[in-house]
Amino acid sequence: MDTIIVTGASSGFGEAIARRFLAEGYNVIAIARREEKLMDLAHNFPGKVHALALDITDKHAVEECLSNIPEYFENITALVNNAGLSLGFGPAQDNNINDWETMVNTNIVALLHITKKVLKMFKEKNQGHIINIGSVAAYYPYMGSNVYGATKSFVHNFTLNLKTDLEGSNIRASCIAPGLSKTEFAVVRFKGDVEKADSLYENKTYLTADNIAETVFWTFSLPANVNINVMEVMPTGQSFALGFTKKQDEK
Ligand SMILES: NC(=O)c1ccc[n+]([C@@H]2O[C@H](COP(=O)([O-])OP(=O)(O)OC[C@H]3O[C@@H](n4cnc5c(N)ncnc54)[C@H](OP(=O)(O)O)[C@@H]3O)[C@@H](O)[C@H]2O)c1
Repeated sequence: MDTIIVTGASSGFGEAIARRFLAEGYNVIAIARREEKLMDLAHNFPGKVHALALDITDKHAVEECLSNIPEYFENITALVNNAGLSLGFGPAQDNNINDWETMVNTNIVALLHITKKVLKMFKEKNQGHIINIGSVAAYYPYMGSNVYGATKSFVHNFTLNLKTDLEGSNIRASCIAPGLSKTEFAVVRFKGDVEKADSLYENKTYLTADNIAETVFWTFSLPANVNINVMEVMPTGQSFALGFTKKQDEK
């Protein structure tokens, strides 16, 4: 059976994407740091999940684990680069430089290491699909998005460049860019402050993780000659920015 690699499979979109593919009978290589969450998934789909509890920014661990995939999971047909995060919601001048580095290392550098490794396997078979989870933050700035939005612009641009380099091959490259969605994303962003995270969704419509899982599965399940390049997905009620018009400071 074909195998799908899903990074960030311990919660939110990644967990829903893993479950969506598992429900269709695919094997899943599930990657995230929280082992107990990956084990819950594995228990629900016995024999179908290869759980890799690792930090994707640890390039040696990534290299080691992806070089030693059990035979049953070896036939990899898609990589969903979903693991990612945003830290902080303040303007650039107030944000923590370490948080910026963590976002760059996770959303960009780790994604590159995993992609490079899996792309080699795809090139050997001349088949495969790389689906990157971007964000509407790549296209529409909002106050406090700064480095997070910029990392997602990278994901968008990298996907399109990858597609260009894959010209003439059977390998597909897609970027799915979700809008406001309710997952653990905001709790992580506000460093565990659930109340603050919940306030982000007050009086707003938002997407669910299942909505995005469906979008990813649909993108993958299209005929092999069809490549979704980029897809923006927003809740019906969302406008293009999350922020508010602020009064200019009086000097
Ligand atoms: N929610 C939104 O509104 C929204 C909108 C647009 C795009 N996105 C993007 O969607 C993707 C998924 O986010 P989500 O909303 O589903 O948030 P989430 O519920 O917080 O899930 C993030 C996932 O990434 C994993 N992860 C984070 N850092 C990792 C690391 N260093 N190593 C391994 N795994 C790591 C987490 O697992 P562990 O903590 O167990 O490691 C978790 O499984 C992200 O790329 C995010 O930028 C989210």
